[in-house]
Amino acid sequence: MGKYDQYIGSFKCTTDDGLLGKPEAKELQHEPVGVEYSNVHRHEAVIVGAGLAGCYAALELRKKGFDVAVLTKVFPTRSHSTAAQGGIAAALGNLEEDHWEWHLFDTVKGSDYLADQDAAEMMVREAIPVLFEYEHMGVPFSRTPEGKIMQRYFGGHYSDFGRGPQILRACMAADRTGHALLHCLWEQCVKHEVRFYSEFLVLDIIIDENKCKGVVAWDLINGGIHVFHAKGVCFATGGYARLFNISTNSHANSADGLAIMMDNGIPIEDLEFVQFHPTGLAQKGFLITEGARGEGGYLINDKGERFMKKYAPDKMELAPRDVCSRAEWQEIVEGRGINGEEYVYIDLRHLGAEKIKERLPQIRELSMKFMGIDPIEEPVPIQPTAHYSMGGIPTDLSCRVLADGKEKWLVGLWAAGECACVSVHGANRLGTNSLLDASVHGRRAGKDMAAYLEVAQCWEPLPKDCAQKAIKEVEWILNNNGNERPGEIRRIMQEKMYRLCGVFRTEKELVQMYDILKDLQSRYKNIYIDDKGQKFNTDLQEAIELRHLLQTAEVIVASAINRTECRGAHWRLDHPGRDDENWLKHTLAYRTEEGVKFDYKPVVITRFVPEERKF
Ligand code: FUM
Repeated sequence: MGKYDQYIGSFKCTTDDGLLGKPEAKELQHEPVGVEYSNVHRHEAVIVGAGLAGCYAALELRKKGFDVAVLTKVFPTRSHSTAAQGGIAAALGNLEEDHWEWHLFDTVKGSDYLADQDAAEMMVREAIPVLFEYEHMGVPFSRTPEGKIMQRYFGGHYSDFGRGPQILRACMAADRTGHALLHCLWEQCVKHEVRFYSEFLVLDIIIDENKCKGVVAWDLINGGIHVFHAKGVCFATGGYARLFNISTNSHANSADGLAIMMDNGIPIEDLEFVQFHPTGLAQKGFLITEGARGEGGYLINDKGERFMKKYAPDKMELAPRDVCSRAEWQEIVEGRGINGEEYVYIDLRHLGAEKIKERLPQIRELSMKFMGIDPIEEPVPIQPTAHYSMGGIPTDLSCRVLADGKEKWLVGLWAAGECACVSVHGANRLGTNSLLDASVHGRRAGKDMAAYLEVAQCWEPLPKDCAQKAIKEVEWILNNNGNERPGEIRRIMQEKMYRLCGVFRTEKELVQMYDILKDLQSRYKNIYIDDKGQKFNTDLQEAIELRHLLQTAEVIVASAINRTECRGAHWRLDHPGRDDENWLKHTLAYRTEEGVKFDYKPVVITRFVPEERKF
């Protein structure tokens, strides 16, 4: 018996999906939103999200000849993977000795020992073939004089199991690496005739008797609910950092995938671990790549000191992100922010104009356009900025979504990339491991879905009310006539989340934040939007996304209250120190009507016994 035979139903294949051509389909028609007959689509595989994870999964499936649709709420090449700048990690050893075992050690130590070591090992081993695959696809990497892929330094990556100095491991395309990878992958998808449905916002997932049978989505351009009937679905919906006002993330990163999973009773893993990138442009949050420190940039306080010498004397600016962000925030709260303000400097002037222009052209452009500052001439004001979600939808090593967070596969459903938690990043991700995670797991998800589709011959019938929940939500937003503006609720949520659930946390502030979120959720019940139409209604889209953000924020904050220790990016001032005895475990958070409920699962430890983390 093959890996997937046990999951295949015993009914006979028919062309009838339970909706198409049947009178019951009319029951789905619901003015003014309305599901039309023509709005039911059928594909063997449906991928939600067109970043690196989604495109890689789609490409793998197409290469095996399956019919794949990718739903994306933006044009594919505007997916957030394109914003990643500095590099993608792989122990290629192009410029100096490196080994995947060293990469593994750094990833595990960087994670504050919360990463599952079997998953992390698989990722760093597969990094090497994935990079060569990208090279063969034609990614325009920066090159060494010999023509190999250029690699640069990044925080948290060292030689000799952390005993040696920093190591050249981040494979780069100047400071536009995500952009280069995504464009190339998307071109490959187009070449292989992946079907893209651009500007479709996913609203719900169709689950019937522990089987995923498709998704329900809103057509942002024309309006209208669409049902996508599939044998297999993969969520690659990205992160949520737009729920903070200072954030590197694009507006699209609104936790859609996480919220939809929680709506359907699936727990979310380790959501308390939110990464704050140390170098966001002050007050704006836009990413100034860690590659800038990799190239030799200094972090400077108001006294002109390289303050990292106090916090990470050995690794200095190339300590992992959680360490650098805390150091900055400590300098700021102790009054050594520049002019006493909430920012410090990254100083690149000593790198020289040539290096900045060649290796960091995009961040120079960003600094000049948005701050009026040329890094060749002046230091750039920066502050910690919400960047990445370490937690997400729990999956196994084949990227299959676990309905109980532990071992029960929700048949027909996969997740990959930032929305998923395998878990390879534990409590703190290393820079350049996100493009890697998205690529490796997108590819793995695609391969595993293909193995499933080999045996899953039929589309199983859809439950006839499968679009009702989504229809009701859209109708409710269009028709609700309260007196609250979604934009105002979002503004409060974003500002307060940065203040009260940020780099440093306390129970008092987290509880305050939880209460604020509860209040905002009840205000949400009273929203109104001006645009009542269905075509390109951004008011409607933002209201839907706001619900996703509010509900995800609730789980982040509840999980942060619950974890009474310091680990990686989760730093509780009122609970100093890491507490392995009680907290060397993953959180599984269920969002229920009665509040957030918790379960736990152990961390997989294979090679490296947890030890104190010093840099
Ligand atoms: O700093 C950066 O270039 C971001 C990379 C990452 O988050 O991996």
